[in-house]
Formats: sequence, C-alpha cells, structure tokens
Amino acid sequence: MKKFLACTIIAFLLVNCKKAVKEDTQQRGVITKSAMVVSAREEASKIGTDILKKGGNAFDAMVATELALAVSFPFAGNIGGGGFMVYRKANGELGSIDYREKAPLSASKDMFLDESGNVIPNKSTLGAMAIGVPGTVAGVFAVHEKLGSLPIETILEPVIALAYKGVVVTKKQEERIQYYQSYFNKVNKDSIVFNKPWKENDTIKYPALARTLERLLTHGKDGFYKGEVARVLAKFIQENGGIITEEDFAKYEVKWRNPIVFEYDDLKIISMAPPSSGGVCLAQIMKMIEPFDLHEFGHNTLKTIQVITEAERRAYADRSYYLGDPDFIKIPLDTLLSHTYVTKRMRDFEENKATRSSDVSHGNIQIIESDETTHYSIIDQFGNAISATTTLNGAYGSKLYCSELGFFLNNEMDDFSSKPGVPNMFGVTGGEANSIAPEKRMLSSMTPTIVEKNGKLLMSVGTPGGSTIITSVLQTILNVHEFNMSMQEAVNAPRFHHQWLPDEIRMEPNLFNATTIKNLQNLGYSINEKDSPVIGKVDGILVLKDKSLEGGADYRGDDTAVGF
Ligand code: GLY
Repeated sequence: MKKFLACTIIAFLLVNCKKAVKEDTQQRGVITKSAMVVSAREEASKIGTDILKKGGNAFDAMVATELALAVSFPFAGNIGGGGFMVYRKANGELGSIDYREKAPLSASKDMFLDESGNVIPNKSTLGAMAIGVPGTVAGVFAVHEKLGSLPIETILEPVIALAYKGVVVTKKQEERIQYYQSYFNKVNKDSIVFNKPWKENDTIKYPALARTLERLLTHGKDGFYKGEVARVLAKFIQENGGIITEEDFAKYEVKWRNPIVFEYDDLKIISMAPPSSGGVCLAQIMKMIEPFDLHEFGHNTLKTIQVITEAERRAYADRSYYLGDPDFIKIPLDTLLSHTYVTKRMRDFEENKATRSSDVSHGNIQIIESDETTHYSIIDQFGNAISATTTLNGAYGSKLYCSELGFFLNNEMDDFSSKPGVPNMFGVTGGEANSIAPEKRMLSSMTPTIVEKNGKLLMSVGTPGGSTIITSVLQTILNVHEFNMSMQEAVNAPRFHHQWLPDEIRMEPNLFNATTIKNLQNLGYSINEKDSPVIGKVDGILVLKDKSLEGGADYRGDDTAVGF
C-alpha cells in the first residue's frame, strides 16, 4: 500500500512537473490584464483598443475595428463586403449577427453560364457582375444599436481621422498591391489609387473613403444604403456592367441568428450558423473526432492527422450537399449535428488506409473558394467577447474600386454554386442548396468562434482562408485544448487541411515531419504541399488561469494584438 502511495505521489509529481515545464517553456503572445483586440493590422487593433479605453464595450470596439480594417486593410477589410459576428456577453448570453452579402434582385440561377450551360470564366469573380449587395455598414450599425454603449461619433471619428491621415504600407502589402495591379488595370476603366507603385513605408491616404464614412456620421446606415452613396454606387456598378440597383441597397437587412452551440469534452463551442457552413462543419468534425484520444496521439502525428482528415472529408461532403441560406432552403440541422448521425459517418473509417472521397456520399461540387478574408477577436474589460470575420471574398474583392466613394466592391457572388452538379447516387443534385436566387445569401465558410470552458469564457478565435477557415479554427482550438499550447503557439503551429474534394491533404510546405508525410502516403493519402504556402491567418484571444488575456496574432500576416 505504502509502495502504491509512493508510486502515486511520484507519478503525480512527474505529471505536474512535466506540465510546469511545458508552461514555463511556452512561447506566449502579447499578454494584457483586462482587454484586447487582435486584428490583421495594428492600426485597427489600436483604434478598437482606444474605444475600449474610452469606456466602450466589445461591441463599440467591433464597430471601430471593422471600419478601421476597411481603411487600413483594403485587401479584405471592407465596407463593400459583408461578414458574421458571434458574441458572448459577460453574463453568458450568446448571439450572432449575419451581415452577409445578398444576391441582387435581378440575379438568376444561370447568370454565370453561357448558352451551352458552361460557366463563363471570371464572370463571378472579376468585375461588376461578381458583386453581392454589401452588408458591412448595416452590420456595424445594427450591432451598435442593439449592443453598443458609446455615441457613434466617438467610434467613427478616429476611423475617419485614420482615413484622412493615411496608412503606412507594409512589406506584405507592397507585395500584394504589386501582384494584383494587372487585375486592377483589367477591371477598372480609370486608374485607381492602388495603381501607383506603392512601396513599403509609403503612406496611402483615403480622403474619398473618409468622406463616405462622414456620411454615416450624419445619416447612420442610410448614409450608405439610401441617398447619395447608394445612387453613386448603383450607377457606378451598372456603368461597369453590373445589375445592382438602388432598390437592392434600400432593401438590404442584417439577420440576428442563433449561433451553433455544441460541446467537445468540457468545452462549449459557439460558432456561426448558416448561411455560414462554419459552425455546422466545425461541430460535425469535432463530434467525429471526440472519441479519439488526440492528446495521446500527439500534435500533427500520423494518427492525429489521419483522424482529423477523415472527419473533415465527411463533414465537407455534407457541406456541399446540405448547406445554403436557411431562409431559402431547409437544412436538416438536428440530424447533421446529432450524435447518432456523426457516429454513423465515421463508422467506415479504417486506421490502416485512407478512405477515398469517391466512396463518401453526398455532394458533388468541388469547393473552390478564395482565401482572402479577415478576422478579428475582441474581449473587453467587462468580460464581453466578440469574434468577427469579414470579407470581400477574393483579394480586393471584384477588384472594382469606386474611386468616388473610396472602396473596393466584393466578388461574393462567386460563393454561390454557379452550376449545381449532376445528380448524386440518391438522384438529388448536389450544390442545389447553394444555387443563386434573388436576395439569397451565398454559403460561407467563415467561422467566427467563441469557446467556453466550465461555463467561463476561454477563447475568441477565427481566421480568413476560404474553405480552410473551418479546419484552421479547429486546429487552433485543439492545439490549446488537446496539446497544451499557448494561444500564440496554437496560432503559429503548422496547419493542414482536407475538404473532401480534391481528395488530398493540403499542408503548409516544409513544416511537417517528412516521415509522417511518407507514412500518410503509404496509407494512401495524397499530400499537397505546393498550393497553400499559408493556410489561414488566425487571430485569437485566450483567457488565462489568472484571468489575464493572451493574444495570438498570426505571423503569416501583419496581424497584431493590442490591449491593456
Ligand atoms: N468568401 C469567403 C467565405 O465566405 O467563406
């Protein structure tokens, strides 16, 4: 008995020492005591934090950060796009808002097909036909009205000042602008501000955008959706071959939606519901992998990658078949998220070989999504948390820039399935759920997520990355929960992705163990290290044991955590 007790004590000490060593050696991100904003640009994180310092709450800071990203990160930040925000108030109340773009009133199912029924190249990605009716301005005003606390002037003024003062070009931005200049030339009739040979440390000023934002000071959301701006914008879009009208702007409305909420071990995960596929897919994957001891398998080991890959394969097959705008189609959410269903989905998983995607039923549309979106997370000094992901879809959206108003317009119409696929084995046509219809919202992968542990706020997290968003959010949560990483380590860790079709595991190049890759190949997995030099740019905030906050700002971008 004594011997048993001694062994138990030694084992306890060993485990705890190991844990202590692990914590000591953790590479931490920025740590603050009370509040934090993490976003793709320091300017936006600072403006959001300043709003918190003025006594504003996370919702005020959300409005400021979203609009500051529209100024400082035109690559994806926007007022010409849309997004989703999930929140958890300090009292535990949960909610989410959908400010996703909508198809214009005169949109039609076949609008991107030629007479032979083939997809017309670039029509849904480049130029005016690709634009969905933007939702961002309506989104931030709805959040402010329902949940904000500071006067809107206090929130907008620093953003407008930033647009007048200008934003310094970073090295990464210089490279991006250079890369996309030929597209700007192709799409825009006249030269735009981004046609100049901008270099790192130059300052780009945005007076036209500042004036557009000033209209919001006086007219609120109507300063965008009605009157002069709507008139100029509709005319501009139509002159460039698009179909959006003033009526489309006037009719735009946000939707408050119940988030997807599910449990994984002792975590409660709160994420975005359709028309984003994020929450549903994340829930399905996490429910499928829950029975496996990933902690025991180890981070990015053969077994861990295999189990996650097989769950992703199955969830993404369902995604393309079942998911779309819930206001237009019936989604069997209860079934898709039920224990019985997800358990059945994983029943044919075999440890000694890869499942083939052709053997996984449902859906026959390959997901081709652009990678360019942006995410920010905020936790305020009162304990409110928000997680918001916003997008123009592609890099600089449709590349169509309205110089008079100072912003890019999205190419979100490409997130619809332009051509739903052939009937599946059940005779039902996959992708139909996400076909185009007037005023319908296109399916998204954006996965703004909040995590609770034992009833308390643990994390706010999200990322850009198109279809890889869901799997990047997944891995970041697992890195903290299963593999004891700090927030920054969880964000930095190499990522992989499988989305059913194409049937391959995409991996960030040269970051995975060569033997693990070989062993995966031996099991029949196809590995692609070429197409995704970067998978996601995750930003997150972790509540530490002493209640201080740790930011994880992705080194893959110019992302920055700021707080106090
Ligand atoms: N446009 C990217 C997404 O909505 O997922």
